[in-house]
Amino acid sequence: MRILMVCLGNICRSPLAEGIMRARAEEAGLDVRVDSAGTAAYHVGEPPDLRSQEIASKHGIDISKQRARQFEVSDFDIFDKIYVMDSNNYQDVVALAADQEEAGKVDLILNEVYPEENRPVPDPYYGGRDGFKNVYDMLNASCYKIVENIRSQQS
Ligand code: 4NP
Repeated sequence: MRILMVCLGNICRSPLAEGIMRARAEEAGLDVRVDSAGTAAYHVGEPPDLRSQEIASKHGIDISKQRARQFEVSDFDIFDKIYVMDSNNYQDVVALAADQEEAGKVDLILNEVYPEENRPVPDPYYGGRDGFKNVYDMLNASCYKIVENIRSQQS
């Protein structure tokens, strides 16, 4: 199973989603490859925002070595599932899909917890630390659900 987490800058939400997903999969003993990317190129090569690193670290997850990259069309070939954070990410990624099969790999990550409600993971970039805690909690709940769903598909 290969999962890609996508947001706008790949420095706040999706690197956190990547780190949390990897931790949840490892503790569940699942063979899942996880990566993240941004729809925009503003922050390519940068480490995650310090506030994302901080909230991850608080939960025993080290995301400091991750580096931002931009989403590319070849990601559709590599990944089985592409989780986006909000409807802008969704539109930007789906616009690059070659066909329905590729477009069908894309979903809002909170739809795992709230199916078909299309709730966004709000961009915490311009806010305070509370926003990052909120994002962590949302992503953590989603990643637990993803693990649960993978497990039920495998059994
Ligand atoms: P992210 O947050 O998409 O969660 O990584 C953002 C980071 C940077 C910017 C926007 C969103 N920016 O405009 O630079």
